[in-house]
Amino acid sequence: MNATPTATAPDHTTIATLLVDELVAALVNTRIYLANHPRVETSLTAALRRLGELVDLTQDPVCIAGIDGLVVFQQRPLLGASMSAARLLGALQLWGAGGLELRRATTLSELGELLAGLATRPRPGQDLAALNAQLVERQCRNVRLLPPYVDALGLLQKTTSTNIRVGVHFYQSIVDLLQTVTVSVCRGGQIDFGPVQGQAEQMLRQLEENDTALLSLARQDQYDAFTFGHSVRVAILSLNFARTLTDDRELLIRIGTAALLHDVGKSLIPFELLHSTGTLDAEQRRAMNRHSDLGAECLLDHHDSDPLAIAAAFAHHRSPDGSGYPRTLHEHETTMVTSIVKICDIYEALTAARPYKQPMSPIRAYRVMLAMGDKLDRRLLKQFVQGNGIHPAGQFVELDDGEVAVVRRQNADPLQPVVALVDRPDAMVTVEEEQLLDLSQIECCGARAILRDLTPQEVEQRLADRPPRTRREPPPSAPPHPPKPEPPPTQPAQKQIVNPFRWD
Ligand SMILES: [Fe+2]
Ligand SMILES: [Fe+2]
Repeated sequence: MNATPTATAPDHTTIATLLVDELVAALVNTRIYLANHPRVETSLTAALRRLGELVDLTQDPVCIAGIDGLVVFQQRPLLGASMSAARLLGALQLWGAGGLELRRATTLSELGELLAGLATRPRPGQDLAALNAQLVERQCRNVRLLPPYVDALGLLQKTTSTNIRVGVHFYQSIVDLLQTVTVSVCRGGQIDFGPVQGQAEQMLRQLEENDTALLSLARQDQYDAFTFGHSVRVAILSLNFARTLTDDRELLIRIGTAALLHDVGKSLIPFELLHSTGTLDAEQRRAMNRHSDLGAECLLDHHDSDPLAIAAAFAHHRSPDGSGYPRTLHEHETTMVTSIVKICDIYEALTAARPYKQPMSPIRAYRVMLAMGDKLDRRLLKQFVQGNGIHPAGQFVELDDGEVAVVRRQNADPLQPVVALVDRPDAMVTVEEEQLLDLSQIECCGARAILRDLTPQEVEQRLADRPPRTRREPPPSAPPHPPKPEPPPTQPAQKQIVNPFRWD
């Protein structure tokens, strides 16, 4: 699904997220290919370009920390980046390192040496000092591993709730599994379906126990070169949707597995094409569209693959009216599982942030999808909108008293969900004792209502200059229409960016 590109200037959080993604892509490529392979060079070049952009917006050198399975930049966890960075974080941990330091002057060979070093397992007794010494020996003066961050757990406890951290770790384990599947497919190997089904089952259990954390994470800004994050989000959305249609756990696990593998054919698409952020020409588009064919073929090669997964991989870009791709000579009936995956695939593509476009609000995405007519199963689409909600979990909203909040749960009335007030500029991270407001309860919330959806960037702008609020008790008898706050300044003051890290 193509979304209309929107020209926006990404902020430093977005650029840092992109840099981490480029580093993960380069690390994965370093593991798959020889050092002089063009794909390794392409991904290293992309990471260096992003490093330059980040230095322009922040400072030289750039420090990226890995703390308890989260990527941290300028003392703020980057949840979106963390979800796809399990390999990078795992490598840092293996070497006993707390992060990476990269200078603007970093060369291709220096970054290559650093990632090649990280991609190898340390010998007994080796730690980051050994790898740093090896880098110096090889004249790599602009890159180094950093020691663990002082008071790392204190920082995390202040900024992220346990639920969110557990959710991110789970998300990472699925992305890591999909990376393993991709590496295997790239090398002509087999897919081990057991672990994929196991993750789908685990995902279902998490949604049953606490759907908030996983669904909120599915709304995070995230870019990943290999589209693993996309597949995980499509799987979460598909499973959550399918739960409203059936109680059959075995079928639900099959749906989750099919959604996780729906784009497995992208493993066989040239990296440069998959990674391209420009408009594709007709030939490139044709090559990209082959991922449905290739995915279905790849799954057909396995005697134990599920027909539902094969069908979803093959037909998730086809429409009930026969349009889309791949074309077939004969009529091809779409299964309900494929229709579920297709709806969630399009919704994810529209509402996700990409390097070249802002995320679309859920309401706008619904409008676009409803306007697609017979290209989608309309009955299923309406059920999807009902279940996902007008303001889905994880969506930032503005309340009519000017407060910024994030949706946590749906209510019987889709316009009045349960929300949590957001009082930090890094609004995607909420503290453990967040204050939940059930907007359907007038006595709790003083008849507050949602005014509109906000993008993460709008939330950043609103809260950048606001001092952190202390926890407030719900007003016992709040007036039905509280006074409007002062409008925010049109030109927010420039933030002073200081070196955020203290290292041993
Ligand atoms: Fe696809
Ligand atoms: Fe997809």
